[in-house]
Amino acid sequence: MDANKASSTAYTVMQGLLWASDQPQYAPLVDADISQSIRTFLSASPEGRRRIQQVEGVISTRMLRIFEKLLAPNISVHYALRKKFFLSNVEKLIASGTRQVVNIGAGFDLLAWNLHKKYPDVKFVEIDHPSTSYEKLAIINAVSAPEANLSFLAFDLSEEGLYTALSSQDIIEPNVSTVFICEGVFMYLDEGSVINTFNDIQKFDPKAAFLFTALAPFGSSENNSTWLLRTYLRLKKEPLDWCIEPSAIGAFLTGVSFKCDAILDDDKAYLEYLSRSPETVLHKGEFMVSATSSI
Ligand SMILES: C[S@@+](CC[C@H](N)C(=O)[O-])C[C@H]1O[C@@H](n2cnc3c(N)ncnc32)[C@H](O)[C@@H]1O
Repeated sequence: MDANKASSTAYTVMQGLLWASDQPQYAPLVDADISQSIRTFLSASPEGRRRIQQVEGVISTRMLRIFEKLLAPNISVHYALRKKFFLSNVEKLIASGTRQVVNIGAGFDLLAWNLHKKYPDVKFVEIDHPSTSYEKLAIINAVSAPEANLSFLAFDLSEEGLYTALSSQDIIEPNVSTVFICEGVFMYLDEGSVINTFNDIQKFDPKAAFLFTALAPFGSSENNSTWLLRTYLRLKKEPLDWCIEPSAIGAFLTGVSFKCDAILDDDKAYLEYLSRSPETVLHKGEFMVSATSSI
């Protein structure tokens, strides 16, 4: 990670989501109010405005599509499917009694910002690397200051673990029904930091729900991204690290005392959220997992 620059991939996710929300065939994945909140958020920073302009310009958006095809085909549709997975599962968990939502490596994701006013009795916490966390907080404060039930913690998870981050301030309470989310982050951490994250979650809530994504290794039949993506991410100082085959995730979870509730790839998510089979080859590589602590 570049210690002095907000995560470029965090901007890329929001840019891809904005693009998908403007495509009639994918619009059902991103509600109009969410699409509007992305636009409002991105409009409040120079890099965000640059990203909006790229999506809106006729030539620049064509170039973005070509670039995406060369690196990771249909990754923007994947972002929209991935966001739908997290939003629908978090809302289901809140409906069944979850009272704390912790987003690890939240980037510029707006789930907590969009939900914290709707659920005033639920605490939302976002953790990210300081370079991204401070930029996000500055934007959020400029747009609409959060209520007391939304907090931001700036931490480098590869240096200080999740438990240290969360216990540094009395923001969330141990042993309260909590869902942890970690979307598009584990692939940037080493295996030790990933395992520590699972262990630290259980210290807070032995019955925690955990929604996360993981990346199938390059070269696997479950990953259709190209080598250019790895090179691009290295240039952006966000090199990839931890990868795992979808078929190995169940055993991995058992090893860290979690139970795998569901695994979703883009083909399944497309069918589930758009009620039709994909018309094109979707992204393969990052997959979504729903798990529960089983200690
Ligand atoms: C691809 S972005 C995903 C952002 C967000 N979760 C989303 O899906 O929209 C990866 C995020 O992981 C964060 N991240 C990567 N390594 C980290 C670390 N060592 N400590 C804290 N955050 C980290 C980055 O700052 C960035 O916000």
